[in-house]
Parts: sequence; structure tokens; C-alpha cells
Amino acid sequence: MLGNTENRYGLLSRAIHGIMLLLIFGMLGVGMYMADLDKTDELRKELLWMHTSTGVLVLMLAVVRVTWLKISPAPRLPVMMDDWEKTLTTLVKSLMYLLMLLIPIAGILIVNTKGDAVSFYGLFEVPMLTGENKELHELMEEIHELFAFSLLFLVILHIAGALKHRFFDMSKELDVMKRMFGK
Ligand code: HEM
Repeated sequence: MLGNTENRYGLLSRAIHGIMLLLIFGMLGVGMYMADLDKTDELRKELLWMHTSTGVLVLMLAVVRVTWLKISPAPRLPVMMDDWEKTLTTLVKSLMYLLMLLIPIAGILIVNTKGDAVSFYGLFEVPMLTGENKELHELMEEIHELFAFSLLFLVILHIAGALKHRFFDMSKELDVMKRMFGK
């Protein structure tokens, strides 16, 4: 039930997948919206507080997700799937996991390099990874933005792939969507 099997994802992977799907779209939307607001805008400060705390939550979930995959490996890709599709699917998934870890770390560094610590919803502070550093701050802003848009691109590709298997491939065996969402 909780663990993944050869043919389907278990409860834990399904739950984290669903929560992260909502959180990442929320983070991308809020991130893009607040980046356009004036730095002195109160709304920007409030959104930034939500964005940074929720980003730390995304980081924690990503660590659990990657660790869980080591303990309980993902279902095998369908035998009849073309090799190029298997390679592309694996590449897209691996890059998404990597970005789910690197984007929040770059985000934490944006805050730390200004000399501030990141608060997790006011409950505790994430240990500082580095001190004030203007050059690193600017670099991390660029990296955070570039990686966030790369993740958006990969998520779109990932969804397009799942929809293709469901609606355009002629075999039920290739419908990988039911392994994550089906009974
Ligand atoms: C998967 C998680 C995350 C996603 C998808 C994400 C996404 C984004 C996006 C799309 C932007 C707007 C970039 C721009 O257009 O300039 C942004 C800005 C920002 N994010 Fe994140 N973010 C995440 C996690 C975090 C975390 C964990 C932190 C810090 C703890 C953080 C701190 C910031 C800051 C400070 C900005 C504003 C940068 C600026 O002033 O231009 N983010 N984020």
C-alpha cells in the first residue's frame, strides 16, 4: 500500500507527487508575481515570507521523495515503450528531481547572501549556508530564476508525455498515468 510496486506507485509517492504538483505551480505563480512588485511593497514582503517558507517545505518533500525512491524504487517503465521515450522520460524525471532540490537551495542562498536567515513559517530558522555576499546574491538570483523556468518547461513536457501515453498511444500498457492516479 505505502510502497511502490513493479506496476504502480504506492500511497506515499502518490501523496508527495500530488502535494508537490500543487506547491510547485503555486511557487512558480507567486514567484513570478512578487518578482514584479516593488521591493517596498508590503504585499511583496508577505508573499516572499510565504514563498520562502513554502520553498523550504518543497525542499523537505523533495528530500523525502528522493530518499523514498531509493528505499522503494519506482515502477518499471512498460517493456513495449520505445527506447528513446524511456531515455527521455528518465532524463526529464531526473532533471526535475535535481531542480526540486537546487531551486530551493538557490532560494535560501538568495536570502542568506543578504545577511538574513530563512524562517520556516516562524517555527524555526534554517541554518545559514553562507554570510553576506553581493556577487553570490546576484548569481543566485539569476540561477533561481533560470532553474525555476527550466522546471516549468520540464513539468510541461512531463504532463505532455503523460497525456500522449493516455490519449494517443494505442496500448493500455503504455498508459503510465494510471500507475500514479489509477486504482
Ligand atoms: C521549488 C521551489 C521554488 C520555486 C519553483 C521558486 C520559484 C520562483 C520564481 C519563479 C521566482 C521569480 C523569479 C523572477 O522572475 O525573478 C522566485 C523568486 C524568488 N524566490 Fe523562489 N522558488 C522556490 C523556492 C524558494 C526558496 C526555498 C526560497 C528561499 C528560502 C526562495 C526565494 C526567492 C526569492 C528571495 C525570490 C525573489 C528574487 C528577486 O527578488 O528577484 N524561493 N522564485
